[in-house]
Amino acid sequence: MTLPLFVLGTSADPHSEKGVDCPGELPSASDPLLVERARKAKEALGERLFILGHHYQRDEVIQFADVTGDSFKLAQQAAARPEAEFIVFCGVHFMAESADILTTADQRVILPDLAAGCSMADMATFDQVEEAWEALEDAGIADDVIPVTYMNSSADIKAFCGRHGGVVCTSSNAKRALDWAFERGKKVLFLPDQHLGRNTAVLEMGMSLDDCVLYNPHRPPKADDLRDARMILWRGHCSVHGRFTAESVDDVRERIPGVNVLVHPECRHEVVLKADYVGSTEYIIKKLEAAPAGSSWAIGTELNLVKRLGQMFPDKNVSFLDKTVCYCSTMNRIDLPHLVWALESLVLGEVPNQITVDPDTAHWAKVALDRMLALP
Ligand code: 13P
Ligand code: SF4
Repeated sequence: MTLPLFVLGTSADPHSEKGVDCPGELPSASDPLLVERARKAKEALGERLFILGHHYQRDEVIQFADVTGDSFKLAQQAAARPEAEFIVFCGVHFMAESADILTTADQRVILPDLAAGCSMADMATFDQVEEAWEALEDAGIADDVIPVTYMNSSADIKAFCGRHGGVVCTSSNAKRALDWAFERGKKVLFLPDQHLGRNTAVLEMGMSLDDCVLYNPHRPPKADDLRDARMILWRGHCSVHGRFTAESVDDVRERIPGVNVLVHPECRHEVVLKADYVGSTEYIIKKLEAAPAGSSWAIGTELNLVKRLGQMFPDKNVSFLDKTVCYCSTMNRIDLPHLVWALESLVLGEVPNQITVDPDTAHWAKVALDRMLALP
């Protein structure tokens, strides 16, 4: 399909505008006109464009998002905008895939940098999960197991869950997804984040650590251990949140008297146990919003969001839970030059970095995503 050429400002050629001088190329990060270029391209695309921004994105990108949110809110928002022709997803690959699955066939989902993946999602491949399911069949328990995958997984893992009667969850609805699953089966295979699975099972569902078994795809547990477990936790983790430690919590409590420790459930169990509050990125923002002026908070989540919280709430003392933990490198790949390049390409009638999921995978992944969106 040929896309109509759009016009920036008054010129027929968008790049003949002052300051827009490298059509189709990735602009330099030092280009002083980047903000202006993004603004103009966005304006030119108007209602045809909808930009989604995850809370972990850089400020330079977030300023152009029509909606910001956690992965649950962004999935809902993607599904709620059938009139937007282009959904530019400022986030990571699995989020853009989910947006493609939840939008109509005419809509195009664009990820400004294709290298924006997620190391956790890469920790569960389709072949590994198929093999694991065979191991559950060999152990005679596959009929009792409902697979539940965290949103942070590839579309084919979501499709696997759809085909096997399972559901997707995010960090803001993991308990509801597990309740749903345990109403339908005796056991759950939780993919790919062991920490979200364990934290939800133990801290929100009243299970014990002995109810959980870790499934290492390279060295699977014994059939007896699988039979004994209620939660089979895939051995995946977030390389950012996995770096906060119990000592980080002890240290911050010593340094800042009366500090409230607020962490994301992708953190390790021992960290979550020591924290005062735990929740998704959206929960973290709401908690800070509602906190009294002058209160102190140490936040265990991605650094872009923690820095933004400090700016949003100057009347509260916001600090990062552990200074040695760094940004999510893949979230950070979406920078202003990539956003400008994506938007200007759209203005020129080209669709860059479109994310498409094949129809069969999309169908079954949508089954699992729709079950999540319908959770009570
Ligand atoms: P939420 O947006 O669900 O809080 O997840 C955080 C995350 O790691 C996204 O990659
Ligand atoms: Fe993946 Fe962790 Fe980065 Fe989220 S923060 S995108 S889970 S690596």
